[in-house]
Amino acid sequence: MRLLLIGPPGSGKGTQGARIAAHFGIAHIASGDLLREEVAAKTPIGAQAAGLMSAGELVPDELILSMVMPRVLAAGGAGGYVLDGFPRSLGQAIEARRIADQHESALEHVVRLQVPAEDLIARLLNRAQLEGRPDDTREVIERRLAVFDDATAPLLDYYGDRGLLIDIDATRSPDEVFEQIVARLPQRDAA
Ligand code: AP5
Ligand code: MG
Repeated sequence: MRLLLIGPPGSGKGTQGARIAAHFGIAHIASGDLLREEVAAKTPIGAQAAGLMSAGELVPDELILSMVMPRVLAAGGAGGYVLDGFPRSLGQAIEARRIADQHESALEHVVRLQVPAEDLIARLLNRAQLEGRPDDTREVIERRLAVFDDATAPLLDYYGDRGLLIDIDATRSPDEVFEQIVARLPQRDAA
C-alpha cells in the first residue's frame, strides 16, 4: 500500500497517518516531523529550514526531496508507505514521481482530507496551547493556509487526472475519519 494524505494544515494528516501506518503495517513518512527533528538536532538542514517553517513558508524542493525520497524508496520496497505533507508543490510531485517510477514505488492512492478553514484555525489554535509548535500562531496559520491554496491545491488536479484521488470529509471525529478512509482503500489482505 502506497498512499499520500493531502490536506491543509490541521486537516488531520498526522493523526490519520499514524493510524493508517499502524493498520496496514507501513511506514508513516511525515516531512514536517522530519524537518522538526532536523531543527531540534541543529543540523545544516534544520538551520536552513527553521526560519521558513516558523514563517509558514515552504522549504526548498531540493532539500525536501533529498531528505524524503530515500525513505520513500526504502519503504516502497518494504511493504509501502503513507506520506504526510509531501509532495506539497508541483515540482516535488513531478520529481517524486519520476524517481519512484524508476523503482516501481509510485503512489497508488491519494486521500484528500477536507475541513473548512474556520475549523482548521480552531484546531491549530487549540494545539498551540497543548504543544506550542512555533508555527501555530494565528498569523502564521493564515499564511500556511494561503500557501496550501497556492502551492499544494494544484496537486489535487494533478492526482485527480490520474484517477488516484479519494475525497474524505474530515470534519468528523478522528475515529470516524479513519473508518471512512479505510473503507475506501483496498483491504489489508488484498493489498
Ligand atoms: P507540517 O508539519 O506538514 O504541517 P501542516 O501541513 O501545516 O499540518 P499540521 O501538521 O499542522 O496538521 P495535520 O494535517 O498534520 O493535522 P494534525 O493531525 O496534526 O509542515 C510544517 C512546515 O514544514 C510547513 O509549513 C513547511 O514550512 C515545512 N514543510 C513540511 N513539508 C514540506 C514540504 N513537503 N515542502 C516544503 N516545506 C515543507 O491535527 C491538527 C490538530 O487537530 C491536532 O491537535 C489534532 O489532535 C486535531 N485533530 C486531528 N483530527 C481531528 C478531528 N478529526 N477532529 C478534531 N480535531 C482533530
Ligand atoms: Mg502534521
